[in-house]
Amino acid sequence: MRGDIKTGPDWRPQTKCRGDSVGFCRRLLLQEMMGKIAFSLIFTLALVTLSTSSERKCDLSGLWRNELGSLMEINKVNDAGEFSGKYLTAVTATSNCIHSSPLKGAQHDRTQRSQPTFGFTVNWEKFSNSTTVFVGQCFVGDKGKETLKTMWLLREEVGSPGDGWRATRVGANIFTRKRNLEPGKIIQQQSPLCDTPAPTAQ
Ligand code: BTN
Repeated sequence: MRGDIKTGPDWRPQTKCRGDSVGFCRRLLLQEMMGKIAFSLIFTLALVTLSTSSERKCDLSGLWRNELGSLMEINKVNDAGEFSGKYLTAVTATSNCIHSSPLKGAQHDRTQRSQPTFGFTVNWEKFSNSTTVFVGQCFVGDKGKETLKTMWLLREEVGSPGDGWRATRVGANIFTRKRNLEPGKIIQQQSPLCDTPAPTAQ
């Protein structure tokens, strides 16, 4: 039959186009091939999207905010998993003016784990003699939203070992990522006035 399209176990259409219907027959062939290419492309794209979202790795670096309104900015995590940054607490157990404070920590090997555990210490050097340690894990939700679930211990300085019973507080904080259009600037801008260097006399 003229323009007859034969399909067999071989995926390529076996077409014999002869005579008047050659144009029509070729168009049909082309349409069939385009359909197959489009299907393959969509299928590949779906596979890639699925695999990347389930393997999405959590990156600790960036700006984070917890439910108290405290901000922390973590610099780039190095190859050994170590990081540093700044913490601006929204609350304090002291009556002193809050300053942004340095933090230092380490994260579990990111190359193997997509939701790594980590720990860091904040030294409230400028306004309190306490130290806080945080431990936690970074979780990536279905839509890629990152959350840091942490627990902390805050050790306050006391005069003698006998006062140790009242020296440690414990709690939990959940951090979510904030947009960080100006790395290094936000914490500085949000810091209370006591953190701003006093203008020098001219
Ligand atoms: C102090 O008051 O001695 C220093 C500041 C402590 C702030 C604590 S650390 C745990 C908790 N989470 C925060 O974001 N702030 C408080």
